[in-house]
Amino acid sequence: MSALFSPLTLKGLTLRNRIAVPPMCQYQAVDGIINDWHKVHYASLARGGAGLVVVEATAVSPEGRITPACAGLWTDEQAQAFVPVVEAIKAAGSVPGIQIAHAGRKASANLPWEGDDHIAEGDQRGWQTLAPSAVAFGANLPQVPKALDLEEIARIRGDFVAAAKRALEAGFEWLELHFAHGYLAQSFFSTHSNQRTDAYGGSLENRSRFLLETLAAVREVWPEHLPLTARFGVIEYDGRDEQTLAESIELARQFKAAGLDLLSVSVGFSTPEANIPWAPAFLAPIAQRVARESGLPVSSAWGIDTPALAELAVKNGQLDQVLVGKAHLADPHWAYLAACELGVERPSWVLPAPYAHWLERYRSA
Ligand SMILES: Cc1cc2nc3c(=O)[nH]c(=O)nc-3n(C[C@H](O)[C@H](O)[C@H](O)COP(=O)(O)O)c2cc1C
Repeated sequence: MSALFSPLTLKGLTLRNRIAVPPMCQYQAVDGIINDWHKVHYASLARGGAGLVVVEATAVSPEGRITPACAGLWTDEQAQAFVPVVEAIKAAGSVPGIQIAHAGRKASANLPWEGDDHIAEGDQRGWQTLAPSAVAFGANLPQVPKALDLEEIARIRGDFVAAAKRALEAGFEWLELHFAHGYLAQSFFSTHSNQRTDAYGGSLENRSRFLLETLAAVREVWPEHLPLTARFGVIEYDGRDEQTLAESIELARQFKAAGLDLLSVSVGFSTPEANIPWAPAFLAPIAQRVARESGLPVSSAWGIDTPALAELAVKNGQLDQVLVGKAHLADPHWAYLAACELGVERPSWVLPAPYAHWLERYRSA
């Protein structure tokens, strides 16, 4: 019996297995509106058999996009464009999720394959970035952001709420708040980016405020029976890891108390000086510690790209759900591959009938 292929029940939803496609930006939207690229992309991932498909970081406001080609949810037209994607994911038996995001000081960037750096000053395609403090990320992202005032902080919290409502109306059943990767929420938490002296900076309580207030506001509009999750960078690999982890675990406890249903454990990416120990499944033991000490179910990604590693992470209790990213781009039928390798009975049944029918014969031929 495969642990990876055991169902996962969270709130009112039961996912068919522990495999999830994590959010992965496609950089193919126009004015934040997604299109046929996204429909084909997400439908094929859902048909591949993962229990959950989380749609890419989707900006809650225009200035919250990472690049000009990122998806958005600040208009009803943008929300409407997601409906066929949601329907295609559901029709394939997967759960449609979406990550809502504000890129903060990492916004206004060129596409990854066009430099991945800040759009040059004076270039019409760029915009003023916003952050807790007027401190640039550095390296390839040198733009100094504008420090948010209290009114702007409240406005962005409202943007998250409005985006959550639109996500619900579009039919999404799983919501992920992007609190990771050095984007706006993570940059409130991290002292690399937050140098405020008011109620949103300084102490752990103050640096946690934006995240907890946003979670609480979204929880009010996101239905109780559907999972509300967050992706958060619990560690920076900047030489202060024990302290950051301890603070992150304290925040995770508060997330749980505020009604969060699962934490997607990731890296902070708050400084270009980080020394990340890239290795297969390197974050899984840290995710397990966060789960144990916070009481929250956890998922995690980063190099868990073989069926054996994914199976082990669930079997030995490190992860409740495994996020398989780039391996899904390489093979949208990764879950089928995993089912074959893990000896799942009738692995082809992971796929829809038009594939399953033939593959069953193909395998036994
Ligand atoms: C093309 C691409 C786009 C990504 N976009 C996002 C995103 O929108 N939100 C996010 O939280 N992580 C994003 N990530 C990170 C992935 O979700 C995942 O954590 C990462 O690829 C590591 O997992 P893997 O080793 O299985 O690929 C992106 C990664 C890739 C490769």
